[in-house]
Amino acid sequence: MTSKKTLYDSVEKNWVRQNLWIPVLKKLVSEKSRVKSLEMLGETPEVWWEQVSHHNSKTAVDVTGVALDRPSKQAGRCRKVFYGRLSDLINRPVFTKTFPYDLINLDYYGGGRWFSEKFRSDKIGEIFKVISLNLKKNNSFYFLLTLETNDLIYPWYKHSTDVITQNPVFPETVKFLNSINKSERWNLWLALIGNAFEIIGYCLKKGFHCELLGSPCTYIGESTSHKSRMLVYSFHVSELEKKTSAESLYKKSLNIIKKTRFIKYAKTSGKIGTLSLG
Ligand SMILES: C[S@@+](CC[C@H](N)C(=O)[O-])C[C@H]1O[C@@H](n2cnc3c(N)ncnc32)[C@H](O)[C@@H]1O
Repeated sequence: MTSKKTLYDSVEKNWVRQNLWIPVLKKLVSEKSRVKSLEMLGETPEVWWEQVSHHNSKTAVDVTGVALDRPSKQAGRCRKVFYGRLSDLINRPVFTKTFPYDLINLDYYGGGRWFSEKFRSDKIGEIFKVISLNLKKNNSFYFLLTLETNDLIYPWYKHSTDVITQNPVFPETVKFLNSINKSERWNLWLALIGNAFEIIGYCLKKGFHCELLGSPCTYIGESTSHKSRMLVYSFHVSELEKKTSAESLYKKSLNIIKKTRFIKYAKTSGKIGTLSLG
């Protein structure tokens, strides 16, 4: 385990790749002869998906990359690369016709990018559009999402039909928040719950079932000058089975979110910890 801590390659980020992303890709590779994936590209020449695709020569993993800045060091590892903001790309037919994907990894910047006007943007619209483009053509796919707390989908969209207050599991959510002793963590928990409920609610509205594959993860991402708390989710979106009620779906999700893993690398021991209720 390396102690290197940069925006792209921290120990915590690597833990997320190994424990959240790679198992999803392994599952897809074991089920399909070709896996199509959409990925936000990083600035290291190595790519995480080759840890799976190189070991399974039978399945082709076709990656379409998206990056803000050109050229991307990972471009050569992709079938196609689109440069630009996702919010612009989703309006370009040359990009939208690449849908559907089996795996979508919206791995947004962290490390305090919100301090720069250039990187500040509300992401809910583009996230919903990407989901919508995909579920029109694919009735089962995996969706990975990494945000920083400034990207809080939930508080930015707080309104009278708030996804938490209007939710069938609002009483359970309040009970859970009241059980948390560290009151300074309430906003973080609201974000963890609210972001997931926004996405689950959007899929429900479209007639799809969106399930958390495991508990979300959170860690501190660092860049050269700033730190920010990252939130990581993994979802499976599939056709809604009539027997699943919205209430049971939210209840199940809340119970999974309550076990959010707080990932922390201890330099002294060289170990990575995954605390719950941090
Ligand atoms: C954290 S890195 C991706 C790391 C990569 N997934 C990996 O694991 O190695 C985030 C990348 O997403 C791209 N990005 C961030 N915000 C974006 C946006 N709004 N639209 C398009 N690309 C974006 C940037 O090019 C940036 O390099």
